[in-house]
Amino acid sequence: MSDFLADLDELQTAAEQRFAAAASSDELEAARVEFLGQKSGRIKDVQKGLGAVPKEDKPAAGKRFNEVKQAVQQAFESAQQRIEAARDESKSEPLFDPTLPGRPVRLGRLHPITQTIEELKDIMGRLGFSVAEGPEIEDERHNFEALNIPADHPARDPLENFYLHAARAGAGKQGDAPLLLRSQTSTVQIRVMEHTPPPVRIIALGRVYRPDTPDATHYPMFHQMEGLWVDRRVTMADLKSVLRLFASSYLGHDVHIRFRPSFFPFTEPSVECDYHWNDRWTEFGGAGMVDPNVLQAVGYDPEEVTGFAFGLGVERLCMRRHHITDIREFYRNDVRFLHQF
Ligand code: DAH
Repeated sequence: MSDFLADLDELQTAAEQRFAAAASSDELEAARVEFLGQKSGRIKDVQKGLGAVPKEDKPAAGKRFNEVKQAVQQAFESAQQRIEAARDESKSEPLFDPTLPGRPVRLGRLHPITQTIEELKDIMGRLGFSVAEGPEIEDERHNFEALNIPADHPARDPLENFYLHAARAGAGKQGDAPLLLRSQTSTVQIRVMEHTPPPVRIIALGRVYRPDTPDATHYPMFHQMEGLWVDRRVTMADLKSVLRLFASSYLGHDVHIRFRPSFFPFTEPSVECDYHWNDRWTEFGGAGMVDPNVLQAVGYDPEEVTGFAFGLGVERLCMRRHHITDIREFYRNDVRFLHQF
């Protein structure tokens, strides 16, 4: 009797191990045949030993045999479920379908104003102008005084400029000059000439700030391209040639330009420059011959050198070329607009 029970224990342990280890339905089937097979399965074999058990022990032995048989059957079924579940899972994994079209990736791009600036640098570079830079926070000397804009000039009105509050609070104290966001890139003319003996031939591209209420043509921050060429015998004819070549390059060959008399404190004579493109005249900036007072303010000799300067609105150029009618589009950050450039 005890041999019979020991065989049953061994059988149960072996069967449970084999079923738990089965990793595929083939392995499971092999284990099933080995233990539960109708003809020569190991359960059938052990069952044969039941006949040799003494009569009085039979009921207990039979009971134990049924328990083991059930446990083995149970081990088989749970292994079967486990393998089926794994198979279902791998089925529901998305299969790679090489015939599907790819998902488009949205590429970033440069802001239209940045693109315009790059192009303007390129055009002016071919005309021999190098790129200069200056700070956006300026003092009154560079934004006004050295540009021949006197203290009582309306352009210096605090309501026309973004003076910095901290600087204004301390203004008047010695060595604590008021600061403002530059209202024009003409500041860079002064900064360059202060540090460079003539000749100079530069452009400066950057942001300027004025407290304007935004509308289709105004924005409190916009970009200008400043140009400056100082050398012996630079004339108004050079100015006109450069501006015409520039306009033709940027807008295409079919461009005419005209000068209208104007006034700027830092140029004499001064002009307003218009170009004719697509059947329309558009003003594109101010220009003129650098005022002798400005040359003197930076230590140049107005008897030795002359120069011209100009200042153009970058947004306006870009708007005209791309038929954009509202400057605010540039700064709404709407990708449906930005993506078109
Ligand atoms: N700074 C002027 C403005 O912001 C534009 C300008 C006019 C610049 C004439 C110049 C110039 O260099 O010569 O309105």
